[in-house]
Amino acid sequence: MPLEPEASSAAAFNSGMAAISTVFLTLVGPNSSFVYTTPLYGGTQHLIHQVLEPFGLRGIAAPAGDGEALNRAIDGSRDLRLVFVETPANPTMRMTDIHCAAAAARRHPDRPLVAVDNTLLGPCFQHPLCLGADLAVYSATKYLSGFSDMLAGVVLARDAELVARLRGARALFGNILQPDECWLLDGRLPTVTLRMNRQSKNAQRIAERLVGHPRVERIHYPSLFEDPAQIAIRDRQCKYPGGIFSLELHGGRMAAFEFLRRLTIARNAVSLGGVETLACHPKTTTHSEFSEEELAASGITDGLVRISVGVEDWRDLLRDFEQALEM
Ligand SMILES: Cc1ncc(COP(=O)(O)O)c(C=O)c1O
Repeated sequence: MPLEPEASSAAAFNSGMAAISTVFLTLVGPNSSFVYTTPLYGGTQHLIHQVLEPFGLRGIAAPAGDGEALNRAIDGSRDLRLVFVETPANPTMRMTDIHCAAAAARRHPDRPLVAVDNTLLGPCFQHPLCLGADLAVYSATKYLSGFSDMLAGVVLARDAELVARLRGARALFGNILQPDECWLLDGRLPTVTLRMNRQSKNAQRIAERLVGHPRVERIHYPSLFEDPAQIAIRDRQCKYPGGIFSLELHGGRMAAFEFLRRLTIARNAVSLGGVETLACHPKTTTHSEFSEEELAASGITDGLVRISVGVEDWRDLLRDFEQALEM
């Protein structure tokens, strides 16, 4: 059983951003446009604003989870080459319906390709190609490699020709994954399901126990969704809720920083998906390049802390979070 069902071909890159930038620069030519959901991982959104738009590529944003806005953005775009969806979105966990995005792309006269950044729930809990997407894109730096000790990116597709185009561009950009790193990544894949299952179970147990904590205003996590539209997307496209949740703390930035300082097992670092638990403050790190408007529109607030849950004993982690919340 392949890790990404329906994939017939894959290309490895030397980081997730290398994979993502190659997808955009290969598939969206000059004078053409692409639609993307917001928020995206900060680096991807930065790539759009700092590199792609100044090159004359037109990016049309639609808020994650707003199916009507996404349909409008797709229907209203000309010379549309790509629809880029990140679901769940990092760090708010808002989900976008991949099946609906793919259906809108198929209806469009330009027949744009649909790429899904599947870093947060793939390859175990969400399968974009089975839901109609053309490309599944990964930062393999995260769950696929799983130990926060290497950078890598992967793109998979049903259509081998599409991957061949990306490989051609990769040869020009020189952003291929080196052979020893391919070997290292390959050795990590047999345990990705084991690791992700444990991380998802841990995260769910912890997140569901932190709900209602007096210091916690809100928890963004798939098993805790309250919006019926989000629940419907989750139930349709995800097998398990995954290992990432974000805590919205009362008390804004001071409270978030104090919480991060007090953690003893979880480490304050920006990556995710490794076997060790990491926590970070997205507004000042992973998403620090967002404008104030983008931060506000995406719900990336001063009090938001993102947690990537590892494979430690969940009871130890819960105690660590609870003592860090005793501020
Ligand atoms: C959802 C998502 N996509 C892409 C990336 C970029 O990956 P890399 O750090 O491997 O370049 C990240 C990194 O945090 C991410 O979280």
